[in-house]
Amino acid sequence: MVKLNVNGASHDIDVDPATPLLYVLRNDLKLNGAKFGCGLGQCGACTVMVDGKAVFSCLTPAMLVEGRAIKTVEGLGTIDDPGPMQKAFVEQQAAQCGYCIAGMMMRAQALLEAKPDAADADIRQALEPNLCRCGTHMRILRAVARARDLMQGKSADAMAPAAATGRG
Ligand code: FES
Ligand code: FES
Repeated sequence: MVKLNVNGASHDIDVDPATPLLYVLRNDLKLNGAKFGCGLGQCGACTVMVDGKAVFSCLTPAMLVEGRAIKTVEGLGTIDDPGPMQKAFVEQQAAQCGYCIAGMMMRAQALLEAKPDAADADIRQALEPNLCRCGTHMRILRAVARARDLMQGKSADAMAPAAATGRG
């Protein structure tokens, strides 16, 4: 049994405490945003936030995150009321197949919560652990820059994300 706090809700879950957090999220809590890519900490598809930091949920035993604040992409907003990160990814059409996107959003969210005025170079560096097999990295970088500006209340007119991060 493990007790997890996910997106502000507490859950008692009857699993082996050594079960990877990713499996608990997907199989027991039906939060399917985080994806299984490699299971080895090499792709970032499984990235979620724990106490504000981006972690690979495929490598994190559930028992290690008991009592800590876990946030998944489902905690960033809803279809009817998307959060700024989600809005920015839609606006910039950052997803192709979409498999990497939840992990990208959560690593970016962790960056912007820690450093709201992150420079484009900071965004690029922070997202390095996360891979996109579709090669939409440039659009993803633009989306995160856009999310940063949305979170800071800047209007579209005040921004030039394509110029800042390149096209692609
Ligand atoms: S599935 Fe966790 S890093 Fe690839
Ligand atoms: S959009 Fe397909 S893996 Fe990134």
